[in-house]
Amino acid sequence: MPDVLITGTSRGIGAGLARAFAARGWTVHACARDPQAIGAIAGAVERHRLDVTDPASIAALAAALAGRPLDLLVNNAGIYGQRDARLGALDWAAFERVLATNTLGPVRVLEALLPNLRAGRGKTVVTVSSVMGSIARTEVAGALPYRTSKAAVNMAMRSIARELEPEGFTVVVVHPGWVRTDMGGPQAAIDVETSVRGLVSLIDRLRPADSGRFFDYTGAELPW
Ligand SMILES: NC(=O)c1ccc[n+]([C@@H]2O[C@H](COP(=O)([O-])OP(=O)(O)OC[C@H]3O[C@@H](n4cnc5c(N)ncnc54)[C@H](OP(=O)(O)O)[C@@H]3O)[C@@H](O)[C@H]2O)c1
Repeated sequence: MPDVLITGTSRGIGAGLARAFAARGWTVHACARDPQAIGAIAGAVERHRLDVTDPASIAALAAALAGRPLDLLVNNAGIYGQRDARLGALDWAAFERVLATNTLGPVRVLEALLPNLRAGRGKTVVTVSSVMGSIARTEVAGALPYRTSKAAVNMAMRSIARELEPEGFTVVVVHPGWVRTDMGGPQAAIDVETSVRGLVSLIDRLRPADSGRFFDYTGAELPW
């Protein structure tokens, strides 16, 4: 069965994705800043410590996984940052943390694990972005750091999709829906299971021709 590595599996969508892939018999490398915070998951699960903002943590993970093929990387870890982030009231340190986590984190993790992904058969990289990173869909202000970080990771993954195209990789970004998690809040439209079911079904259908595209959890394509 294939091997998947998922970041941010201590809760929310990442935890749901880890449960779903483990239930399908995949080997799941479940990563979290605190591996003890990863809940019980039935199946073949290996827990790893990973802070996606910390190059030493990423290097330690890559060293621990040296020689182990990975079929799929899911860059899921993310933070929302300052909610009332408007000009004149910006918390710049918080802005930098959002960019470090949501934009640089996925690129750093992908770069470090590229040997594992090259050795795998799946050659697929899915980054959990957000429709809030869609420039075309930005009609209202607010959440400036979060929107900026997701638009930037969209561009990073689109560019990486082109870079890895000759090697047969499929690199996409996805919007998981507005999901009832700590980030999405209790008023969100869908539960984790609905989002995860859609994302797993989408991942199953991905082909190299999809590389460099932006989908939501229903499989619909989103505008950049
Ligand atoms: N929920 C939504 O409605 C929604 C909508 C669009 C996009 N998304 C995206 O979906 C992804 C998952 O969000 P969620 O709703 O599941 O959020 P969540 O419940 O807040 O969970 C976020 C996860 O990311 C982890 N994380 C944060 N910073 C990290 C770091 N530096 N290194 C490693 N892990 C880190 C957290 O770990 P700790 O427990 O250690 O903090 C946690 O496991 C995010 O990328 C988010 O932007 C969510």
